[in-house]
Amino acid sequence: MPSFFRLATIAALFTATLVSAVPISDPNSNPSFLQKRAGGATVVYRCTIPGTIAITFDDGPFIYTNGLLDILRSRNVKATFFFNGNTYGRIEDFAASVKSAYEDGHQVASHTWDHKDLTTLSPGEAVEELTKLEDAFRGIIGVRPTYMRPPFGSLNQPVLDILGQRNYTAVVWSQDTQDWAHPDDFNASYQVYEQLLNNTENLGQPGHIVLQHEVNQVTALQIAPMAIDLALVRGYKVVTVGECLGDPKNNWYTTSVIDSTIYD
Ligand SMILES: *[C@@H]1O[C@H](CO)[C@@H](O)[C@H](O)[C@H]1NC(C)=O
Ligand SMILES: *[C@@H]1O[C@H](CO)[C@@H](O)[C@H](O)[C@H]1NC(C)=O
Ligand SMILES: *[C@@H]1O[C@H](CO)[C@@H](O)[C@H](O)[C@H]1NC(C)=O
Ligand SMILES: [Zn+2]
Repeated sequence: MPSFFRLATIAALFTATLVSAVPISDPNSNPSFLQKRAGGATVVYRCTIPGTIAITFDDGPFIYTNGLLDILRSRNVKATFFFNGNTYGRIEDFAASVKSAYEDGHQVASHTWDHKDLTTLSPGEAVEELTKLEDAFRGIIGVRPTYMRPPFGSLNQPVLDILGQRNYTAVVWSQDTQDWAHPDDFNASYQVYEQLLNNTENLGQPGHIVLQHEVNQVTALQIAPMAIDLALVRGYKVVTVGECLGDPKNNWYTTSVIDSTIYD
């Protein structure tokens, strides 16, 4: 299962659906990195606090999650995990890893049950993609996240309405390492970090939200430690998405169960 085929499938899906995704305006020219959208959802494109960097890992939990947690622990930094319920791994099989991520103080967030493009689903199906994972999170960590990343960054108004009703903040990204496109090429993804972090002017600017995939071994075990070390050497604070927005930790999760019967 940890096969090239699955990553290639995700990559192909990503490429195919990028076209239909809401266009992401250049965050560098957009003063509104955090947008309140119609329907009540908040959409985040970039950190608001200067000197921060939010490193985000998608599509787990998987067989590299524990190794990645060790790397983060050894450097005493926090990251954000956008976990699926059933994509590369089944969340029940990796419950201990999810619990460790939460207990270590990383931000545990939703990437939906099995990575479907929410904009292609009926409202009922889209709600189910969220609620199945909410239930799984409640079973594992006792709460469910209020932050999520839409698969493929794909959003439209019906999806935003559903996210707003469920009190979600949707997190897109401002830097893409493109690791899904070249899973075995360390240099290609690491260069994104070098260019970002070597430019000393960036330290005074609002921080970046960097996208990568923990299901790729090179990303999780080789690029992540190098990128974190470079960020720390350059004087960045390596923090969660919530922290890079100045949002207190008790807003990252909720115990409230939101009724979804209107979609039945
Ligand atoms: C949604 O969030 C708002 C503001 O944080 C809060 O007042 C409200 O109770 C939440 N609703 C649910 C159903 O959790
Ligand atoms: C990465 O860069 C190093 C140093 O420039 C080089 O030796 C290595 O061959 C490169 N690897 C790939 C996969 O391009
Ligand atoms: C970034 O800085 C490091 C260390 O100073 C250097 O080795 C590397 O070549 C630089 N990379 C880029 C893309 O500027
Ligand atoms: Zn994903």
